[in-house]
Amino acid sequence: MCGIIGYIGEKNASPILIQGLRKLEYRGYDSAGVAIQDGDTIARVRSVGKIENLAARAATEKLPGTVGIAHTRWATHGGVTEENAHPHTDQSESLVLVHNGIVENYREIKEQLGSEHIYNSETDSEILAHLIGEHIKESDGKLTEESFRLAVECALKEVRGTYGLVVMHKDVPDYLIVARMGSPLVIGVGTDGYYIASDATPMLAYTKKVIFLEDGEIACVSKTDMQTFNLKDECVVKCVEEIEWNQEQAEKQGYEDFMLKEIHDQPTVFEDAIRGRFNVEEGTAHLGGLNMTEEEMHSVKRIVLIACGTASYASMVGKYAFERLAGIPTEVDVASEFRYRDPIIDKHTLVFGVSQSGETADTLAALREAKRKGAFVRGIVNVVGSTIARETDGGTYIHAGPELAVASTKAYTNMVAILLLYALQFGRLKRVALATGERMLHALLEIPQKMNEILDTAEQIKTIAKVYANYDHMFFIGRGINYPVALEGSIKLKEISYIHSEAYPGGELKHGPMALLSENFPVFGIMTKDQLYDKMRSNIEEVRARKAPVILIASQGDDTAKELGEHVMYTPKTMELLQPLLNTVILQLFSYYVAKELGRDVDRPRNLAKSVTVE
Ligand code: F6R
Repeated sequence: MCGIIGYIGEKNASPILIQGLRKLEYRGYDSAGVAIQDGDTIARVRSVGKIENLAARAATEKLPGTVGIAHTRWATHGGVTEENAHPHTDQSESLVLVHNGIVENYREIKEQLGSEHIYNSETDSEILAHLIGEHIKESDGKLTEESFRLAVECALKEVRGTYGLVVMHKDVPDYLIVARMGSPLVIGVGTDGYYIASDATPMLAYTKKVIFLEDGEIACVSKTDMQTFNLKDECVVKCVEEIEWNQEQAEKQGYEDFMLKEIHDQPTVFEDAIRGRFNVEEGTAHLGGLNMTEEEMHSVKRIVLIACGTASYASMVGKYAFERLAGIPTEVDVASEFRYRDPIIDKHTLVFGVSQSGETADTLAALREAKRKGAFVRGIVNVVGSTIARETDGGTYIHAGPELAVASTKAYTNMVAILLLYALQFGRLKRVALATGERMLHALLEIPQKMNEILDTAEQIKTIAKVYANYDHMFFIGRGINYPVALEGSIKLKEISYIHSEAYPGGELKHGPMALLSENFPVFGIMTKDQLYDKMRSNIEEVRARKAPVILIASQGDDTAKELGEHVMYTPKTMELLQPLLNTVILQLFSYYVAKELGRDVDRPRNLAKSVTVE
């Protein structure tokens, strides 16, 4: 999740852009850059690390001019280097752009542009700049506002993927082209000019009048005017809206808390996680970061997933998937135990460290231990450039974007997504049929839509959550793939509401925990239709017989669930291995609303830190 800011107007652009980048810092960043147009020259400054590094350099270089663009980067393609930081230029260095999103077909475009194109970065964004530059070269005569726009339109028609884009060209001064596909952009209408940004936060100090660009729209902005087109080059009439948000509300995009925003981010970031990482025709995933030859993949006899907390529950879903699809024995090891246990690891073991922050001390130490013992060690990490990402010999970023609420939500779903893709990649190599692979990929593609269906039921979940906010204890139970879901539901509830909760496999209650059950001790059962459905129903009957209130997650269409539960929340059906991606969203909302009912600070629960960098 990178941040874009642009300005075109009467004022000096540089301070507005630098201040804008500071306001966008909450979106996460590892590098930043700015480009300012002054007459027919464009000055560009980029810097790795904090925005303040860039601010210091921009102050030294002065950067006069009233038109400019700037960007905070959160690396996706290519490491954290000055060369990879935006703005990027085309081959002629006359065009400069900032880009959010992913150009999926960047390899094909690069090939099509040919070997005379020299790139200075490893980014897909630079390739996009070169593509637009190439279309400009094709337009005859002096570059005009119109031919510039048409060149951008032509280039964008060739792009597969997502973009939030602002482009300027030294031969068309005082003119910015802004385009959106899947990556939001807002245009602020000020008295002194126009502000362009990924969200409204950086422009609130100047204006509350905004225009929200929609997918497929291209806005051409001068100092005093703007016009919007679609990709068919037809004019589009846009409305100016008045926003009421203050700075903090804008960062949360209108949601009450970061946690709620991050829960709602899931359909979008899930797409970011899987995009470009599979091939439906071959029914398989391609996670290039694995860095293993087919021979090495065949040599893997055991997989160990090392993680803590929520990341370990995501890993447990991965365990089921690796075993079922690839037939490789897989264990989940809690990092703090693994590191001191003298674990049995050898060169036939593939170890994944799974971590949102990439800095969790126990996970890091465990991975170092596994590496010492000769295993293949890879990372499944959210924060780009984090220690785990750097110290492992490969792996995959989960692309969840910055997760600011302490309780993990969108990182969990994206970890599960990547683990499922890895399991499929190994599975196809070993025993999964093409048709099964294809089916799984189609099912993955449907997940965002199904997550949205769940998010649409938030009000119903809230009503149910209110009923359970006054209990002191709760059990979560599930079987098979829903057992890790129960664990995740339980940790979410306890960490943000402070209600005591525990999770068990459904079949375990009668071996001890059942002694606690009474009418004051609710049990939350995850009972979606899968191969253990009947067993799970029996476990719920056992609970009911002890008079414990029952809440259920059941599959849509399972009308008999109502006979078993005081409250039932329905979830769309998907393939069994993918069901945690949906069921967990219900549990996140349930915990969130219980905690809100109790007046808890959901984003910053007591005693917890977002990144646990100490033992
Ligand atoms: C719970 C939660 C934690 C983390 C755990 C590992 O909601 O967020 O349990 O999952 O501390 O953190 P990472 O993933 O950063 O290694």
